[in-house]
Amino acid sequence: MSDSRVPRSRRFLVCEPRHFAVQYAINPWMHPDKPVDVDLAQEQWQALIRAYRAHGHTVDTVEPVPGLPDMVFAANAAFVVGGRVFGSLFHAPERRPESVHYDTWFKAAGYDVYRPESVTEGEGDLVWTGRYVLAGTGFRTTREAHREAQEFLGHPVIGLTLVDPYFYHLDTALFVLDDDNVCYYPEAFSPGSREVLRRLYPDAVLATREDAMAFGLNSVSDGRHVFIAPRAEALADRLADHGYVPVPVDLSEFHKAGGGIKCCTQEIR
Ligand code: ARG
Repeated sequence: MSDSRVPRSRRFLVCEPRHFAVQYAINPWMHPDKPVDVDLAQEQWQALIRAYRAHGHTVDTVEPVPGLPDMVFAANAAFVVGGRVFGSLFHAPERRPESVHYDTWFKAAGYDVYRPESVTEGEGDLVWTGRYVLAGTGFRTTREAHREAQEFLGHPVIGLTLVDPYFYHLDTALFVLDDDNVCYYPEAFSPGSREVLRRLYPDAVLATREDAMAFGLNSVSDGRHVFIAPRAEALADRLADHGYVPVPVDLSEFHKAGGGIKCCTQEIR
């Protein structure tokens, strides 16, 4: 079964954690009084980039800016599909200034950036499945932004309501395995949204709260390899049973800010 999973090489945009820190608290993981080991964070982040490159993925970087400690979470800066860049409007005032720096990168790379009117946090809440967009709401990205995204992208946007503050972004509760399947933690969603996911993905790989608290759902899959937090061991085993190849990468220092592998990674399609 393992050999039937075919990887597709990706283009990722990332931001080095040169100025990474926990200086404010905008999600329940963040405790500004608990120190971050900046050297360890650098090492962990470099290991992620090496793992991507070793598996044939292209990695572009945006220059980090002093005073923007969460800028390392590149996933939140935009949502890109078919070369269309749907920019972000961050919920927290502390993060709003990140957008201009990412927009500058996109413009220099030859992309036009759509500036949303409603709060929306890029791939944190907008997840491309290959056919449509799954869109989280409840804590950050608004329903109004889902409408704007659908209008701009011309792809169906399916709204899902998040209910657990620990899983405040859709990408902390669900990730796409390949064009046919996803992996998620059902209890992070409202009953109706859970039902929607059940209908769309009857064969989904389901995660437990333990997997989710270990940031196991903040993973990146290339269709075969799943870059996943090593503490989500049970989930990694389940993915292996389904023919995927887990590639453990430890970003424990970033968990202190409420982020993991996927949060640090934006995909450019
Ligand atoms: N501290 C950041 C925030 O709360 C973490 C962002 C994590 N990113 C993600 N894609 N889930 O905004």
